[in-house]
Amino acid sequence: MNRPIPYQPSLLRLLHGCTALLVPLAWLSGLVVFSNHDGRWLRLPTLPGDWIDIHGTVGVLLWPVALVFALYALNAGRSRLRQPANAAALIGLMLAIGSGKLMQEDWLRTGQLDAFPYHLHLLAWLLISGAVIWHGGAVLRRGGWRFARSMAQLQVRENDGPRSWPRQLLRRR
Ligand code: HEM
Ligand code: HEM
Repeated sequence: MNRPIPYQPSLLRLLHGCTALLVPLAWLSGLVVFSNHDGRWLRLPTLPGDWIDIHGTVGVLLWPVALVFALYALNAGRSRLRQPANAAALIGLMLAIGSGKLMQEDWLRTGQLDAFPYHLHLLAWLLISGAVIWHGGAVLRRGGWRFARSMAQLQVRENDGPRSWPRQLLRRR
């Protein structure tokens, strides 16, 4: 039987999509930064380039999107946060961007590996990895590929265009 793919609000798909694209980029560029400048537990072959700058740029793109996503999730998306794996993904994201904003780009260049925000940022890195694996697994367990794909659909219903976004963002569920 062919059940229809669930419809997800366009603003949620946009914010979730940008977040789900930028977090893996931050994760991977962070891995290279870690390997190049710290390397306590893992050292990859050194990749050329200023990876702290590259990671910082991904971070600068991510944090405003993540804040708007959090606003959406806490208002219109509040009922979905009763799913613990959804809430964990959001908490991991907030901790990663919060600790990222406390980071100074020169700490790792000058070998200062013991700053508290840096430890927090590393912890957030681990937490967001676990949370996103849990979240992806929970989505697949609850609704399979059909449910996972619903977040990547492109069609938009007539009353769900950009003009309805400010209202959606602030609507409490
Ligand atoms: C999913 C994992 C990660 C996320 C979401 C993330 C996110 C961020 C964000 C939002 C910023 C602030 C950018 C800004 O506004 O200036 C930042 C900064 C930074 N992060 Fe990460 N980060 C992650 C993992 C890592 C890892 C593993 C490392 C390396 C050990 C790292 C090292 C840094 C450094 C050095 C900065 C300062 C860069 C600068 O100010 O130019 N991050 N991160
Ligand atoms: C970077 C990674 C991700 C983060 C930070 C993230 C975060 C979130 C958050 C916070 C929610 C709840 C939104 C709300 O309350 O309105 C959510 C929902 C959802 N996410 Fe993700 N997500 C990520 C990756 C993924 C991936 C890879 C998939 C596909 C397997 C996915 C599929 C979904 C689906 C289907 C929902 C709706 C769940 C529901 O209605 O309970 N997400 N996501």
